[in-house]
Amino acid sequence: MPSFSYPLLARRRHWLGALATGLLAPVAGLSNTRAPITLRFSHVVTEDTPKGRAASRFKALVEARSGGRITVQVFPDGQLYGDHDEMQALQLGAVDMVAPSLSKFGRIGLPEFELFDLPFLFEDLSDVRRVTLGALGQRLFNGLKRQGLVGLGFFDNGFKQMSANRPLLAPADFVGLRMRVQASRVIADQMRALGARPVTLAFSETRRALATGVVDGTENPASNFWTQGMHQVQSDLSLTNHGYLGYAVVTNQRFWEHLQVGDRQLINQALQEALDDARQIADAQNNAALAALRQSNTTRIHSLSPSQRARLQQAVQPVHQALARRIGPDWFQALQDALAQPSA
Ligand code: LMR
Repeated sequence: MPSFSYPLLARRRHWLGALATGLLAPVAGLSNTRAPITLRFSHVVTEDTPKGRAASRFKALVEARSGGRITVQVFPDGQLYGDHDEMQALQLGAVDMVAPSLSKFGRIGLPEFELFDLPFLFEDLSDVRRVTLGALGQRLFNGLKRQGLVGLGFFDNGFKQMSANRPLLAPADFVGLRMRVQASRVIADQMRALGARPVTLAFSETRRALATGVVDGTENPASNFWTQGMHQVQSDLSLTNHGYLGYAVVTNQRFWEHLQVGDRQLINQALQEALDDARQIADAQNNAALAALRQSNTTRIHSLSPSQRARLQQAVQPVHQALARRIGPDWFQALQDALAQPSA
């Protein structure tokens, strides 16, 4: 049983309120009490992905540094909550931390996070850092307060590839395909611009939907494709590197603010170190997944020529304008400014 859950928090608040109004005699040392804490971290991918590894590292650091007083329970692979309910579970205090992909913030009223979904926006991960580690990243996190959330850090999975039961090398190859997408209007628009029909599905439902033909294809970095066993149900993976998949670790503001300062610092420090590590290994993990895929011989892997990539890029240009109309040009100006910064 979690030893530091909302009912307990509420009880503690009640106590402190009673103390403040003089209903209870002050208890010596109450403010110094270091109660055991259990922090519940829920996510939707397997443990051997960039996100899964970051969560495990975070757990190890927190538990070691707190001498076991703070426990981190990690619930991977959508065991506890999936895409549809993890954010709500966080807002209600049923879990304390989640790390959804940046594509999943639009539907909780933060469409500016869909900037990250713009196809062919980032050249490489250092471009991503210019945004996430700079003023724009901070501005995005400031918006989370509207939802009672606190953003603790960004980290990467990496660049997405397109899969289906045929190569996807030109816009004509997408025509008529039903492509599973995350709940992001930008990604849905991207698929439409390529001639496909986007179908929004939770991550946990994707493999089955591919296997049963509910959808024909999808996009994801190699590590997610491999660890979900999508290679067993997709004959072709096209290395389009057309878009970025990254995450934000978010916590519930009430939970965060009720932590004692020292605990908050310990947890935050451990998380920043785990995310730094995750940023270092994301590329390697996708490369390892790709190597494993090549070995498995289940899926043909296609590279694109520069001109094939340029044709895809041209086809999805209207997606950028559509998002600019939706969130306003100042976000795009801030994005341009961030990308013009020297490497972070
Ligand atoms: C997806 O839904 O495709 C990804 O966001 C899953 C994840 O969290 O990596």
